[in-house]
Amino acid sequence: MQYFIKTFGCQMNEHDSVKIGAMLRQMGYQPADRPETADFILFNTCTIRDKAQMKAMSEIGKTAVLKEQHPGLVVGVCGCVAQQQKEAVASRFPHVDLLFGPDQISKLPELLEKAPQRKRAVSALDLVNTQADYEFVSLIPPKDQSGATAYVTIMKGCDNACTFCIVPSVRGAEVSRPADDILNEVKGLARHGVKEVTLLGQTVNSYGRGGRADGVSFPQLLRRIADETAIQRIRFTSPHPKDLREDLIQEYVENQKLCRHMHLPLQSGSSDVLKAMKRAYSREHYLKMVKMLQAAVPGIAITTDIIVGFPGETEADFQDTLDMIREVGFVQIYAFVYSKRPGTKAAEMPDDTSLAVKEERLQRLFDLANTVARAHNDSLIGTEQEILIEGEGERPGQWRGRTAGYTIVNVDGPAAVGQMMRVKVSKAYNYSLIGEQVSA
Ligand code: SAH
Ligand code: SF4
Ligand code: F3S
Repeated sequence: MQYFIKTFGCQMNEHDSVKIGAMLRQMGYQPADRPETADFILFNTCTIRDKAQMKAMSEIGKTAVLKEQHPGLVVGVCGCVAQQQKEAVASRFPHVDLLFGPDQISKLPELLEKAPQRKRAVSALDLVNTQADYEFVSLIPPKDQSGATAYVTIMKGCDNACTFCIVPSVRGAEVSRPADDILNEVKGLARHGVKEVTLLGQTVNSYGRGGRADGVSFPQLLRRIADETAIQRIRFTSPHPKDLREDLIQEYVENQKLCRHMHLPLQSGSSDVLKAMKRAYSREHYLKMVKMLQAAVPGIAITTDIIVGFPGETEADFQDTLDMIREVGFVQIYAFVYSKRPGTKAAEMPDDTSLAVKEERLQRLFDLANTVARAHNDSLIGTEQEILIEGEGERPGQWRGRTAGYTIVNVDGPAAVGQMMRVKVSKAYNYSLIGEQVSA
């Protein structure tokens, strides 16, 4: 039996797919190279923006033909579209056999067993909103399937209510994973040769808020991972600016395994827009925390997420966002035009800016972001950096690694995945560098 998983969306979904793949292999399935040869095709979907949802829907639609050719084929849909749009998926795609939400991954074996005997899709879509009931799936992939880097879930869900965001309604309430479970997973990964972990959660720096963390705060968790495991690099995504405190900044000063990088989603540089988004911080607060971080950790790379064209955003608000990009000097920005999500507060807000104007703003934002990122990368030419080799590079014989500051470096071999290498930066592009190996 073979399975094929197609994943859309964020790192949480990517990581969920890895966990699901491990469960399927335990059940005796093997990964298929192409959907055409699979006996089970699963779509792990995302609904953060309308386009993400449409993409998933169109891919699901295409499998109806495959099902005609291969009547034994089981088609499943999981992730955030399954959670949000169960009826729409089931009625638009009668060929779908099973549906489950992000909190019900552990039900997959049961659903797979039931699915072939049923006429209608079988489903498991409850959200788990109570601390005690949530089961985190532990995952240490076998040695031969471990790469240089790995994700580790430290919490699930989100207790915030940003007005543009669908995540709380599809991922449920925050639950923190017990610290000892996290440490055991990181230790196991390190034993299998993983060098770098990225701790995952919607708002990682509120880790511990919802109990279950045995009184361990987020900075304390970072310290324990550094002290008690052999892992060499630690990253996390995403912290929320409103919960960013001095103890986390101080941790960067004292914890040398913590990569000199923070992904700190800004969303908008205008305090008025931030207020309408219910982000619970102002432009001034964000800037104050960033300046504190940059003073404590010189050269720290800051990356961010931005939404352009939130309802009511004026040209002056947008200029505030551009201003913040210059002021902070983000080394990378993930930006999208605002997308109206059903059931969110912002969906009811009046929005009189045309899509054309929003798209033009996004283009101006990218133009500036490219210039700022390039200036940062140019400043690294001639410096020595330590990179972790993650895989092969763009050209034959080339290898690809990342600096602690999250910038990709391509370097000529010989090298191996998982190797820490010192390089001298010889050339810069907007979003990558070329390095030369420096002999020890
Ligand atoms: N928990 C993280 C974000 C998770 S969603 C945080 O609080 O920052 C990932 C990113 O998608 C967000 O940072 C935001 O920039 C973007 N996003 C979320 N909802 C969106 C929407 N309705 N339209 C456009 N972009 C959106
Ligand atoms: Fe969405 Fe806000 Fe929660 Fe992030 S903090 S997942 S943007 S509601
Ligand atoms: Fe998308 Fe769900 Fe992640 S909506 S961004 S896959 S939490």
